[in-house]
Amino acid sequence: MSRSQTNTLGNRVVLATATAITEAVRLIRCGGLVAFPTETVYGLGADAGNSQAIANLFLVKGRPLSNPLIVHVDSIDFASALVELDTRGMALASRFWPGPLTLVARRRPSCLVSPLLGAGLDTLAVRVPAHPIALALLNKVGCPIAAPSANPSGRLSPTTAAHVASLLSDTVDLILDGGPCQVGLESTVVSLSSSHATLLRPGGITTEAITDLIGPLIAVDKNALCLSPGMPAHHYAPNRPLRLNAYDIYPGEVLLGFGQVPRATLNLSPLANLKEAATNLFAMLRRLDQSSIAAIAVSPIPASGLGAAINDRLRRAASSY
Ligand code: TXA
Ligand code: MG
Repeated sequence: MSRSQTNTLGNRVVLATATAITEAVRLIRCGGLVAFPTETVYGLGADAGNSQAIANLFLVKGRPLSNPLIVHVDSIDFASALVELDTRGMALASRFWPGPLTLVARRRPSCLVSPLLGAGLDTLAVRVPAHPIALALLNKVGCPIAAPSANPSGRLSPTTAAHVASLLSDTVDLILDGGPCQVGLESTVVSLSSSHATLLRPGGITTEAITDLIGPLIAVDKNALCLSPGMPAHHYAPNRPLRLNAYDIYPGEVLLGFGQVPRATLNLSPLANLKEAATNLFAMLRRLDQSSIAAIAVSPIPASGLGAAINDRLRRAASSY
């Protein structure tokens, strides 16, 4: 098995060759934890039917058991064997899967995933990721893979294998290196468990694209945490304080720019392209967070399209201070 450079540091990063994917399949079948790339962020995967593996996954992430996990599968047919996808669900799945959309729907009685991963809810979150390595892994392993983002709970999601290694290296069995994630933000989470489709988390598929297909979405409010248990206000947090909508740089700060901002230390997208900004967001926050500055200022970012998800992550990251 060819190992990438990071492995000399003593962690378990391997290039995602066919041999490495076969090893990942073996580990998952034995109840192990494997980090793998998706188009959004790296996930930390375990066999969704193995309660011991799922318990270990919660432990390694330091994630409260009250925050349910997303189950990944390789096809719409597999997803509809687990949950009841109504006409809205089928329309969304046909249009956006494989892709950065997670659907929360009522779990079928025949759905044999571990009761631990659903946090006691009668719903299940499912998604088909659009990444050849994730799809190859899912296809070969043949079981649904539960995979939260591969970071300690509450911290920035990893968009490279090296990020995963720096966050979780000793506690996972294998990290499949598939290069940087293209979308860079987690999937959009939509609940279809009631007659009102609800946006639980903005993400890689824009709200506009979803409403074009199934009509308006209800936005989840702060009081509906039972609907969206994993969305505490502070989340996705760097260690340094964050100041949003910044036009100036205060003493001790560096600027994370967007658009034509000459004094930016790093720029999410000099040409103000939201897709590029989303791809760069977590990696650039992480780089600035490692420098010796006191705080990170961030240029204003438009709220439309992918800007909604970018601003959501920035607000959550800023709210912990
Ligand atoms: O892009 C992504 O979605 C990545 C990649 C790895 O697929 N995964 C990810 O997982 O971001 P995680 O665990 O970090 O976020 C899952 C979100 C949480 O906010 C959780 O509360 C919510 O989905 N969720 C999961 N199951 C749910 C359910 N049954 N009802 C409501 N929300 C649910
Ligand atoms: Mg996460």
